[in-house]
Amino acid sequence: MSILVKYLTPHLRKPSTGFWGYFTRMLLKVNARLEQETFMKLEVHPSDNVLEVGFGYGYALSYALETTLRAGTGKLYGVDHSVTVCDAVKKMLNQDIESKKVEIFNADVANIPIGDNEIDKVIHLHCFYFWPDMPAALTELKRVMKPGALMVTGLNMKSVAKAKQMGFFQSGHCEPDQYLDAMKTAGYSDVRKESVHHESLNAELLFMFARKPQSNNCDDELSSQESDITGNSES
Ligand SMILES: C[S@@+](CC[C@H](N)C(=O)[O-])C[C@H]1O[C@@H](n2cnc3c(N)ncnc32)[C@H](O)[C@@H]1O
Repeated sequence: MSILVKYLTPHLRKPSTGFWGYFTRMLLKVNARLEQETFMKLEVHPSDNVLEVGFGYGYALSYALETTLRAGTGKLYGVDHSVTVCDAVKKMLNQDIESKKVEIFNADVANIPIGDNEIDKVIHLHCFYFWPDMPAALTELKRVMKPGALMVTGLNMKSVAKAKQMGFFQSGHCEPDQYLDAMKTAGYSDVRKESVHHESLNAELLFMFARKPQSNNCDDELSSQESDITGNSES
């Protein structure tokens, strides 16, 4: 294993301080445009509650505020398990945090301190392959999403290919198709992917989409269909 892979991998998974932490921060700057492109795919409405998981140095959070949410009624939530990035982003967005427009949680994706059915849109980039328990993470995200809410996952496939070539991801699960299957197994609907060649970034971007179903189980759907027919809304 190269020195780069050995020292950088823990910081990509959970950025911290020191030389390799600083190096990671510089490296993640290249993702700023991808964060913006992925955010645009969410088609956020000013009244939406938006959650970003694994926000790193907060490029998508800033973009969300500047373009849509600061002037709207919606709220922005960020969840990241790194204390270092949470501190950096809290400093950067302190006015929005004071005005209660933004909440930043230092937490794991599998244990999000947000109530059930609160979020309209979820975004994450270059993050899911670090989740130690994918089914638990996807179930938890679905819990906080409103019925019908949309989740968009962004990846720069050129960066993923380069990282694999350099020896990163030896123990991780970075295959998009595995992730799409995991979302279907976790009960998401409308699961699909979209590849885009981005000319000015010279990048192959992959966006993956999934929704929380309107109804969590078939029984609910059946009983609502039955009450439509009988006109009786009591069970
Ligand atoms: C490679 S960085 C990507 C940061 C940013 N999304 C970007 O594209 O530049 C991965 C981020 O996900 C966070 N992360 C990884 N695993 C996580 C988990 N289980 N729960 C919460 N955050 C996690 C890391 O702390 C880090 O900020």
